[in-house]
Amino acid sequence: MEFEWIFKPIDEDMDVCSFDCGKEPLNSYLHRHAFTNHTRGLCKTFVALPYEDSREVAGFYSICAGQVSFDNFPKRIGRGLPKYPIPVMRLAQLAVSKNHQKKGLGEELLMSALCQAISVSNQLGIYAVIVDALDNEAQQFYAKYEFTAFIDKPNCLFLQLKKIIATLDAGTSC
Ligand SMILES: CC(C)(COP(=O)(O)OP(=O)(O)OC[C@H]1O[C@@H](n2cnc3c(N)ncnc32)[C@H](O)[C@@H]1OP(=O)(O)O)[C@@H](O)C(=O)NCCC(=O)NCCS
Repeated sequence: MEFEWIFKPIDEDMDVCSFDCGKEPLNSYLHRHAFTNHTRGLCKTFVALPYEDSREVAGFYSICAGQVSFDNFPKRIGRGLPKYPIPVMRLAQLAVSKNHQKKGLGEELLMSALCQAISVSNQLGIYAVIVDALDNEAQQFYAKYEFTAFIDKPNCLFLQLKKIIATLDAGTSC
C-alpha cells in the first residue's frame, strides 16, 4: 500500500510527546529538544504527518551544518581533499514511530533530507552528508543507501554529495 505522508517543519502544535520509535535517545530528542533547537537555529527538524492537519508525528529528521577533518575520510577520498575542515550537512536524527515502521517512511525521510542537501548545496559548499548511526541496526539501514564509515569512527557514516546528486537529481526525485 502506498502512503502519502505530509512533510512539514516542526511546529508547537504537533503532538511530539506521543512519538515512540523504540529508541530512547531519538524519542527524547524529539520530545525535549527538537522544537527549541529548530527555533534557535541550531538544528532544523522536519516531520512526516499521516495526513494534512494531523497532530501525530509519524517520523522526523533533523539537519544542521557541520564539518569534518579531511583525514577522517578514507584515504582514496581524503587524498584529493584540501587540508582544512570539509563542510558537510549532518543528518543529526532520523526516526519513524513504531506505528508506522516498515511502510517506506524511513526511506522517504532520508530522501527528503538528501534533497535538502542538494538544494542547500546550490548556495553553500557541502561535500557530503554525514550521519551518526545510533547502533548496528541504524548502520545497516544507512548502508543500504551506500553510506560509508569514516576512518576510526565506525558509527559515523558519510555519503558524498556528488553521489547523492547522481542518484537523486538524475531521477529528478527532488
Ligand atoms: C531505521 C528506521 C528509520 C527505518 O524506517 P522504516 O520506515 O521502518 O524503513 P522503510 O520501511 O522505509 O525501509 C526502507 C528500507 O530499509 C530497510 N530497513 C528498514 N529498517 C532496517 C534496519 N533496521 N536495518 C536494515 N535495513 C532496514 C527496509 O528493509 C527497506 O529496504 P527494502 O525496500 O529493500 O525492503 C526505523 O526502523 C527507525 O526509526 N528505527 C528506530 C530509530 C533508528 O534506528 N534510527 C536510525 C537513525 S540513528
